[in-house]
Amino acid sequence: MGSAPLMGDPDACDFLAGNPEVPALPGYVETLQKWLEPQDRRWFAYGMPDPRAAEAAAAALSDELGIAFEPNDILLTRGAHGAMALAMATVLDPGDEVIFVSPPWFFYEALILGAGATPVRVRANETTWDLDVGAIEGALTPRTRMVLINTPNNPTGRIYPDDTLALLAALLQRHSDRSARPAYLLSDEAYSKILFDGNVMRSPARHYARTLVVHTFSKSALAPAQRLGFLAMPPTMPDREALRKGAMSASFSTSNMAPDAVMQYALPDLLHITVDMDKLQLRRDRLLEALRAAGYQVHTPEGTFYLLVRSPIDDESAFVRRLAQDKVLGMSGDMFEMPGYFRLSITATDDMVERAIPVFEKAISETR
Ligand SMILES: Cc1ncc(COP(=O)(O)O)c(C=O)c1O
Repeated sequence: MGSAPLMGDPDACDFLAGNPEVPALPGYVETLQKWLEPQDRRWFAYGMPDPRAAEAAAAALSDELGIAFEPNDILLTRGAHGAMALAMATVLDPGDEVIFVSPPWFFYEALILGAGATPVRVRANETTWDLDVGAIEGALTPRTRMVLINTPNNPTGRIYPDDTLALLAALLQRHSDRSARPAYLLSDEAYSKILFDGNVMRSPARHYARTLVVHTFSKSALAPAQRLGFLAMPPTMPDREALRKGAMSASFSTSNMAPDAVMQYALPDLLHITVDMDKLQLRRDRLLEALRAAGYQVHTPEGTFYLLVRSPIDDESAFVRRLAQDKVLGMSGDMFEMPGYFRLSITATDDMVERAIPVFEKAISETR
């Protein structure tokens, strides 16, 4: 059986997507209710983005990354997806090439194609899941206009180390210096707040001036359908004024002109509503330990919601279907360019974890 028919089944243990385990985090609904109440006649009128939102986001991102972001350089969007579409529409021309890293997030290729550019896939290092900077170098051509990376990474859980980011920055700087048009680095930092074991966020924006930073509240506030994110330019970005203007026009063509009014007003408060990381880490550890004790190979994610597990049989979709027979839902690696693996999202409840463990144990024992 496939997973789709079981998604709404109350007995299913759902590890499929990074979806909330409870309807909303404490304080989330009250925050939106508060900002839903109009405070003036123009509350729901067409208008420019709310300056208080950009100010609060700039201050929070400056704290997070140790870079002084300016409110003018924060462009509010519909989630990370909107921020990436905006970045691409701003800097890409038809025929440009965009290098992205495999295993990728599901929609990178579609986003690149949607911007009229050509996707160029480069595999991550399969032992460490770090960026393979040599492979990125090999994929650069005079048409390369953008490199897209994601850290902390979905699905590998890897946070790219500063040394790697510095190497990538040096490579892109050399490339830009000898090219007619410089290359941008688009950094998808959707999971910047989902860090385990005291890890800290490392952004390439500290290393490469032409980095466009992608942020979202989908993961930190665990409310992915309530779209809000932003694209941020660091103060080191050359030609910022021209880029701001370009982004303004690009927002018209990518439906990012101004995201949902209530979400904008709520942004300063939403910065303080975040997933309970202690609880999430306990759940990660419980599942990791149980899977390893049962004989699965899993590496420890440094961040994100995901465990990447080696399938005990070559056909990972057959194994995922076997788990689904006992109502345990995981994502098969063929969905995200990781044959031989499956992915489990630990946004599932603790109760689901406990109910699923005997199923994981039984399913692997049947393969021996
Ligand atoms: C790596 C990565 N980037 C971006 C997104 C999309 O974020 P948003 O819902 O804010 O568009 C996701 C969501 O799963 C993701 O995993």
